[in-house]
Amino acid sequence: MTIHLRHAGTSLVLDLLPDRLPVVRHWGPDLGPVPEEGLADLQRAGASSAGRNAHWLTNDLPILPLAHLGWSARPSVLLSRADSSAFSPHPEAVEHESTTEQGPAGTTHILRSSGRDAGNLLTLGTELRLEPSGLVRLRAWVRDDRPEGGPHGAGTGADSDLLIGEITPVMPLPQEAQEVVDMSGHHCLERTLQRTQLTPGTRLRESWEGRPGHDAATWMAAGTTGFGWRSGRVHGVHLAWSGNGRYLALHTASGRKLLGAGELLLPGEVRLGPGQTYTTPWAVFSWGEGLDALAHRSHAWLRSLPSHPSRPRPVLLNTWEAVYFDHDLDKLKALADAAAQVGIERYVLDDGWFGSRRDDTSGLGDWQVSPEAWPQGLEPLVEHVHSLGMEFGLWFEPEMINLDSDLARAHPDWVLSDASGGAPEHRNQRVLDLCAPGAWDYLYESISSLVERLGIDYIKWDHNSPLLATGHAAAEPTCGRQGAGAVHDQTLALYRLLDALHERFPELEIESCAGGGGRIDLGILERTQRVWASDCIDAHDRQDIQRGTSLLLPPELVGTHVGAGRAHTTLRELDLDFRAGTAIWGHMGVEWDLTRADTASRERLAGIIALHKELRPLLHQGDVVHADLPEDEVLRIEGVVAQDGSQALFQIACLGQLPTWPTSARPLPGLDPRRRYRVRLAAPAYPELALRAPWMEGEGVVLPGSYLSTTGLALPVLHPDHLILLRLSAVD
Ligand code: DGJ
Repeated sequence: MTIHLRHAGTSLVLDLLPDRLPVVRHWGPDLGPVPEEGLADLQRAGASSAGRNAHWLTNDLPILPLAHLGWSARPSVLLSRADSSAFSPHPEAVEHESTTEQGPAGTTHILRSSGRDAGNLLTLGTELRLEPSGLVRLRAWVRDDRPEGGPHGAGTGADSDLLIGEITPVMPLPQEAQEVVDMSGHHCLERTLQRTQLTPGTRLRESWEGRPGHDAATWMAAGTTGFGWRSGRVHGVHLAWSGNGRYLALHTASGRKLLGAGELLLPGEVRLGPGQTYTTPWAVFSWGEGLDALAHRSHAWLRSLPSHPSRPRPVLLNTWEAVYFDHDLDKLKALADAAAQVGIERYVLDDGWFGSRRDDTSGLGDWQVSPEAWPQGLEPLVEHVHSLGMEFGLWFEPEMINLDSDLARAHPDWVLSDASGGAPEHRNQRVLDLCAPGAWDYLYESISSLVERLGIDYIKWDHNSPLLATGHAAAEPTCGRQGAGAVHDQTLALYRLLDALHERFPELEIESCAGGGGRIDLGILERTQRVWASDCIDAHDRQDIQRGTSLLLPPELVGTHVGAGRAHTTLRELDLDFRAGTAIWGHMGVEWDLTRADTASRERLAGIIALHKELRPLLHQGDVVHADLPEDEVLRIEGVVAQDGSQALFQIACLGQLPTWPTSARPLPGLDPRRRYRVRLAAPAYPELALRAPWMEGEGVVLPGSYLSTTGLALPVLHPDHLILLRLSAVD
């Protein structure tokens, strides 16, 4: 049987055969309605001719390619039992069940398939969902079918637990996919784009840090030669998982091109007993004509989640780069006064308020307000913040522990370690085992009691150390086993903790931070309302970091802060218009000691914050667009266009010397070609510079969307690290 699912310009044609999990015949542009009889022809058009060669499988490749079907490249499923059997899973009599589910954004098509492998006493299954946005989410599962206390024998005994090596679901790429774009980076430069050729072989990107990491691939996207933001068909995969992961693009000798993603498991980390099931994280697939269209599907999906924030994103002030560990009530109250004056709506007290945490060598884990730093408790600050009409947020790093802490001294077996009892320290810290009996409850209770007592609206949830050589030290962990690798259990326990806190405090918002942007994925984003994109607030580098982040997340989920004039991480000096013009795009914030800023700067900042608030509905609900430009390294034209095409905001940002000058017209992409727009400067910028273009004067110009998105506007004379904001309103 062949089925055809359609949503948001996407068609998915699936063959449901009795001897294998679903075969994807088409994933891409909408094929329009296909009558019943046409479906059979679609099946015949794509199926392989059976020959004497085992590679007949090539065109009937299921979403879990397995060796017993003749697949001679990397199998999607690697399993074994302790007695060395179950090495080659072979599901038979596969059953498929197609259904739908109604959600806030529309109908989701769901296909559940499973087949029992009688020889190996297991069942393999998959679940595929075509979401209303055209996003395809795919996961797989395996169940150990040994009967509890049943007969012993090969693969059936108590010594023969099922060890999960790998399960990586895949989707097919069209032959036209020739190049791969994914991301890499490091602390303070996350999610920079990189492009490689899709040649025969495997492109493999992995995370071994117990989190996606600062170098996370984020999307692995393969498309036509030279595909860009606005054109070139591209298909991509993202792993919705906050632990270790694997992304791959396979180009086999038999000509198949595949994209896949799955959890990366440590040896023996997941071991199933009779009746137990392992389910992979969701591999999320998107496609589009250009990267903007690919990104819009994940944005739309996130915006449909119950966890997605529904009220305007409060502009926040974070104290970290203003005071670091130097907590002083009077100073922090003065900072709150200055924040309220420029229009800040949420005040977030960062690291340093608890235990012995006067620097980063001690106190992590002791989630009690420090009497030394805060002799009157946090209440006087919180009351002051509330009296100024602002919400209060507080920093935590729940999964981490300093060995120099009361918690570590009381519970040494709550610290994840390898068999030697050690593990590398990062920033003087180790990782708290959320599966150690009592540890999860301790965190849940300590965080909850502070949220309740202080009226905390927001938690910045940090995670600075990678999980390296981390196994359970406790004799009887609540998840996993003593001595076994703990990343998988830890990730699920974290999800349970976030879910439990949200259940108890439905209004509480949580930000995912991991030493900046080390944990940004669609798994954590089902449970958090913001990410901290990077510890680098330098607006020049932020242009790259935010552009990469925008491929996965819509602007309202991305923390973007205005820092000090001289960036703390890079020491680069940037003027306020560039800093604030870069921060205006996301969930805006300020991370700067405003008590030291001069009056003119505070007034200018207040003006840009007011502009952000006015534009928030557009910025936080519209479609993100990026222009394809020949001088992409140094020139960025990006914007947000309202979904009904009625208005837009664009930035023209110059990051270096342009190779040609003065510069001719450049497009403003994504506008409605049938409408005319008035184009104006959104805010006066650089009045002292001779960078003006005639269209910037007075009431601006009125031009057709078709003209603006193709020919566009002649650029003013732009200098490195200058940025102007353009506001567009449809006039008809
Ligand atoms: C790392 C975060 O990314 C920073 O923003 C800050 O919260 C520090 N940790 C605090 O230790």
